[in-house]
Amino acid sequence: MTNTDTLLSDSEVAALAKRVDRPVVLVGMMGVGKSTVGRKLSSLLHLPFADADEAIEEAAQMSVNEIFEKYGEDYFRDGERRVIARLVGEKPSVIATGGGAFCNDETRALILDKAIAVWLDCDTQTLVERVSRKDTRPLLRGGDPMEIITRLKAEREPFYSQAPIHVVSETGPHNQAVMRILKGIDEWL
Ligand code: S3P
Repeated sequence: MTNTDTLLSDSEVAALAKRVDRPVVLVGMMGVGKSTVGRKLSSLLHLPFADADEAIEEAAQMSVNEIFEKYGEDYFRDGERRVIARLVGEKPSVIATGGGAFCNDETRALILDKAIAVWLDCDTQTLVERVSRKDTRPLLRGGDPMEIITRLKAEREPFYSQAPIHVVSETGPHNQAVMRILKGIDEWL
């Protein structure tokens, strides 16, 4: 078995980048660091980066919060599915998805069919600390973050676990998670 914490050399990363023939899609809970890790991964692989939530906001000309408030979660999920379908249909890239995207049956089927899905995971306490720093998440509004995150994590794990690559990110810098993802892709391809 590969030691997931040794570094890949620059030439190994370059060789891997050449083999990546479809989008790499990061899935997992809010607060796990999909956007930060996705940006680092995309720069190492020399691939474009897309954040699905940002793409939805751009298409709707509204924030995620406003979409939830005005039109509700089902409408958001439908827009999310269409935006992700467009992103995975383009040339290889790294895509960070919102925490609920992979729990939608159609969106999940699309990602599993067209992309390399990576479940980025970490412990509940770390998620709660990270999500408490921002007020941009409608599902956390007016509730206890620990209670909501614990419940959502338990409900969603059966979906996330369908991703072929599972990487646990520790607290602290995200470089280790990025390396583990590269190794996961290397073994899976
Ligand atoms: C959501 C997570 C958010 C965003 C929306 C819904 C969720 O994205 O898509 O608030 O259902 O978990 P992040 O995972 O980037 O926070």
